[in-house]
Amino acid sequence: MDVITTRSLWRQALINERAQGRTIGFVPTMGALHAGHRALVEQAVRECDVAAVSIFVNPLQFGNAGDLAGYPRDLEGDCALLEDAGAAYVFVPEVTEIYPDSPDHQATSIHVEGASLGFEGADRPGHFDGMATIVAMLFSLTGRTKAYFGEKDIQQLCVVQQMVADLAMDIEVIACPTVRHDDGVALSSRNARLSHTARQSAAVIFRALSVGGKALESGATRQEVEAVMASCIAAEPEVSLSYAGVVETPSFAIPNELRPGQEYRLILAGELDGVRLIDNIGAIAGRRP
Ligand code: PAF
Repeated sequence: MDVITTRSLWRQALINERAQGRTIGFVPTMGALHAGHRALVEQAVRECDVAAVSIFVNPLQFGNAGDLAGYPRDLEGDCALLEDAGAAYVFVPEVTEIYPDSPDHQATSIHVEGASLGFEGADRPGHFDGMATIVAMLFSLTGRTKAYFGEKDIQQLCVVQQMVADLAMDIEVIACPTVRHDDGVALSSRNARLSHTARQSAAVIFRALSVGGKALESGATRQEVEAVMASCIAAEPEVSLSYAGVVETPSFAIPNELRPGQEYRLILAGELDGVRLIDNIGAIAGRRP
């Protein structure tokens, strides 16, 4: 596996691969890789000739400096995982390589209306602009590719899909299913920051989504589904709920009425032990008996 630290070498390596007729599968990450990331890389390895991964903790998408400073980093472990998963290239730029004039002086920013406004967008102002800006830059450096994103961050996925469509980028966005622990907790780099008891309490998030999913499938209204999820979370005092919602994808619009037969996303965010966790599932609306 080649470890590349400059934009120019990254761009050139992938131009060379394409010149040899090889297809590229790109997995953008912020490192602290776990089995969820590994599944994305393995899918890229299966579906493309070359898997290329970026590791860059993007300051532009963090609202507060403490969150950025506390973000877990383990380059050695990440490289070992990527090598084992079959990645051919990893891009590990310094912040100055990506933002030569510092992130605060980045003059161009990508803002995606609609999908980036509510929920995570409302709770973390600027997050999706920062995320879309770095993803657009990475796409530009990587060139034509299939790009793999986890459904765990469903709103991020929708923002990226909207950006790619609106800017006619030569990118095929591939949505990959969430990887879960046995108790339903979605794999996330943030789980490592939970205490033992908080990690056990975290299972309530998937339980609430599952109960909400069943209600939606049996014909409940959006408000009823949201209430069912909220009361499930309320039973776990360690978790404070940020939101429990039902949305259409990829617009992330809030439906007035649920149409039987249509798929919706149930989304949930909560904080426990000072750590923000988000998760979601898809479910098809049923008819009230
Ligand atoms: O999901 C992430 O890890 C990040 O938001 C991404 C897509 C790598 C952009 O920094």
